[in-house]
Amino acid sequence: MTIDLFESLPDIRPSREPIAEGAVLLRGFARSAEAELIKALREITDQAPFRHMSTPGGHQMSVAMTNCGSAGWVTDRSGYRYDGVDPQSGKPWPVMPSTFRKLAGDAAAEAGFAGFVADGCLINRYEPGARMSLHQDRDENDLGAPIVSVSLGLPAIFLFGGLKRSDKAQRYRLEHGDIVVWGGPARLAFHGIAPLADGDDALMGPQRINLTFRKAR
Ligand code: SIN
Ligand code: FE2
Repeated sequence: MTIDLFESLPDIRPSREPIAEGAVLLRGFARSAEAELIKALREITDQAPFRHMSTPGGHQMSVAMTNCGSAGWVTDRSGYRYDGVDPQSGKPWPVMPSTFRKLAGDAAAEAGFAGFVADGCLINRYEPGARMSLHQDRDENDLGAPIVSVSLGLPAIFLFGGLKRSDKAQRYRLEHGDIVVWGGPARLAFHGIAPLADGDDALMGPQRINLTFRKAR
């Protein structure tokens, strides 16, 4: 018989970890809403399935994406933009579920950004090997509002750097239910996700889903 030592160790990770001025990791903040989130997610992806978009440079992204809300983030050969319509179906993106909007508002308030009302939610699906290189979220009109980012499923390494691409990025392990909020002086921080490791999450299967809430317009 083997004894798994880690199983008996208490989880000593702090529930709230400051990342930078204006940025905080709220561990497990989405856990209590997970069942509703997963149900709503399925309804969204039935209407607007995940797809691999192309960058303006013509590369297909390893992360598959969809959106809900009135402002969907899209990329194609002509560039990045927010669009109210899913270019694949020609129909508006699915309405943002109230559970999504409430969770994002609650997490923002917890991070010190009261009154955040998201109009867009980019939904990213990472399968093992998928990654997102360092970038800034700067296609939004309202840079006064924070970004709220919810992790579900397999764990990932989140890279969080500074305001310059060359600034050294810190690494944070994001687990199912964790939320990162960044705004104020951290709003334009470079961030990304290291290639997802293999795994099979009990609830979500062999993938990581990220919900990124923005006030785009
Ligand atoms: C993003 O920057 O849009 C995604 C970040 C993440 O997947 O955690
Ligand atoms: Fe981003």
